Amino acid sequence: MERLVTVEEARFTLHETRAVGKTPVGFVPTMGALHDGHLALIRQARTECETVVVSVFVNPTQFNEKSDLDAYPRDLERDAALCAEAGADLLFTPDAAEIYPQGFSTTVTVDGTLSRLLEGTFRPGHFAGVATVVAKLLNILQPDRAYFGEKDWQQLKVVERMVADLNLPVAVVPCPTVREPDGLAMSSRNTRLSPEARQQAKVIPYLLDTAQDLLDSSNREMPTNLGPVLRHWLLTLLESHQPTAEREYIAVVDPETLVDVNEITDRALVVIALRVGGVRLIDNRMIRVRAEVSRF
Ligand code: PAF
Repeated sequence: MERLVTVEEARFTLHETRAVGKTPVGFVPTMGALHDGHLALIRQARTECETVVVSVFVNPTQFNEKSDLDAYPRDLERDAALCAEAGADLLFTPDAAEIYPQGFSTTVTVDGTLSRLLEGTFRPGHFAGVATVVAKLLNILQPDRAYFGEKDWQQLKVVERMVADLNLPVAVVPCPTVREPDGLAMSSRNTRLSPEARQQAKVIPYLLDTAQDLLDSSNREMPTNLGPVLRHWLLTLLESHQPTAEREYIAVVDPETLVDVNEITDRALVVIALRVGGVRLIDNRMIRVRAEVSRF
């Protein structure tokens, strides 16, 4: 695996790669602290692409709190070894000055509900930071395919929107969330959970699984306001199972617009953001109306 540090090196190497026909080029953007979720993206890219490039860049502009940026786990040597093991060919590890040189003044903003709601409410400016750095990385590396995890569903939708709106010549590939055996979604933040908070965090997959069960067992004549009813049930369950967890949001939304849904005719996305033991965790699950489930 070759390591690339400057934009110039990355451009030159990717240009050579394409010139000798080692395409398609698959790209996995990360902020490091790699876990099995990232490795699944790299492995998927490996099976679908001739060349796999991974970036590790802790993007300062997408953090709302400096303390969060400072606390972000960094271990480039470990990340490099994991990338190589998972089959990456190239690792791009620019520093902040390389991505945001003196005088940098451009921000890419995806307007509307995709950026404004949910994470956008609690992390103002976050998606502008994400969209800007992803646009830059796509421009620098010019991959054919870019892999994003569905765990960060809202990020995935923001990136899809930006790629469509700016006609960027890349296919965005959504990849399923990878979970711990007890259901907790893999996240770099999990390493910051105390053993007690780790136990409390299990309430998140529990609520997400229960949402599908509740939908399955809801009345045959589903109420036209099943979205708010479901949300209310989930809030009650959270309160009874883990009253100390600090809720930022629990919502039942349209997966494409992220707007709250009333009626659920086909599918809806349940999204959750909680702080447990001071660590902010997000997760989501698509719930579907299943024809085969007998309702009463
Ligand atoms: O999901 C992440 O790790 C980051 O938001 C990304 C896409 C690498 C942009 O910094």
